[in-house]
Amino acid sequence: MKPIIAPFPHARPRRARQSTAIRALVRETTVTSGDLIWPVFVRDGVNVEEPVPSMPGVMRRSVDRTVEAAKMAADLGIPAICLFPYTDPGQKNADCTEAWNPDNLCNRAIREIKDAVPGIAVMTDVALDPYSISGHDGFVENGEVVNDRTVEALVKMTLAQAEAGADIIGPSDMMDGRVGAMRTALESGGHHNVMIMSYSAKYASGYYGPFRDAIGALGALTRDKKTYQMDPGNSDEALRMIERDLTEGADMVMVKPGLPYLDICHRVKTSFGAPTYAYQVSGEYAMARAAAAHGWVDGHQVMMETIMAFKRAGCDGVLTYFAPDVAQALQNA
Ligand code: PBG
Repeated sequence: MKPIIAPFPHARPRRARQSTAIRALVRETTVTSGDLIWPVFVRDGVNVEEPVPSMPGVMRRSVDRTVEAAKMAADLGIPAICLFPYTDPGQKNADCTEAWNPDNLCNRAIREIKDAVPGIAVMTDVALDPYSISGHDGFVENGEVVNDRTVEALVKMTLAQAEAGADIIGPSDMMDGRVGAMRTALESGGHHNVMIMSYSAKYASGYYGPFRDAIGALGALTRDKKTYQMDPGNSDEALRMIERDLTEGADMVMVKPGLPYLDICHRVKTSFGAPTYAYQVSGEYAMARAAAAHGWVDGHQVMMETIMAFKRAGCDGVLTYFAPDVAQALQNA
């Protein structure tokens, strides 16, 4: 499609920018609270809200406070929250058995949220890093993060989350064959409505630093995940990963991190037309907050502009720690 533009002065593109009303009328992309998924950190205890130092404004909440947060999010029109557990070091072991404990922190939070706030969709994270003593997303044997044994554990974790009432399962581990294995297990377990949002194109990124701190992953900042997460130089490979996961039964696909990989978001949406999400990760959030705290950028404007950028690139939604702030701003607008 080639846009037709009359010669000046018949065409004056500034006419379309002259007022708030006209700008609203010609705007091609809009952001609504329905585009947001809010990642939240859950910890043990009762009535606890503990700030994550590297992510100003982000908390680790006990289950009861997480339920309250879910209620607040639902009231703001946010359709989904995504749970990440901060696991007590005493519950980590080489076999990661806490990952599929039906009563682990994450599964308790799912049950309580579904009970108290049935209208909000609950998404989970499937990977072993919150539970492993290595800090890796899979089992380590002789220095190698092993694939197939890890997938078996991820399937157990998936089923425990589905039993607890999760609506969307989010495998963030980047093992091969996990989406198909999880889909098969969900179907045979009678969970045919449980969706899979695959972290299909997840890069080995420096932007995950604050998150690893937030979940208390051991060896956090030094952890090298390059044998399973993608090389930042690759783009065709991302399309192959998305295609593979869709073929294995993923209902939705994700690109992660977000802003540094907007080109990937755009290629994924135009190539497959599948429900496509970006994860604006912890480091992206921390950078925006830090610059705003210094008064170097207008925090509100930068936040809204970034979410718009994801939508404009073709994403159907965004996982973002800014979700409540964005939804609140939209409500006030
Ligand atoms: C790990 C996982 C990570 C994130 C979500 N799931 C970190 C990693 O791969 O080390 C990062 C999210 C963020 O940085 O906000 N399974």
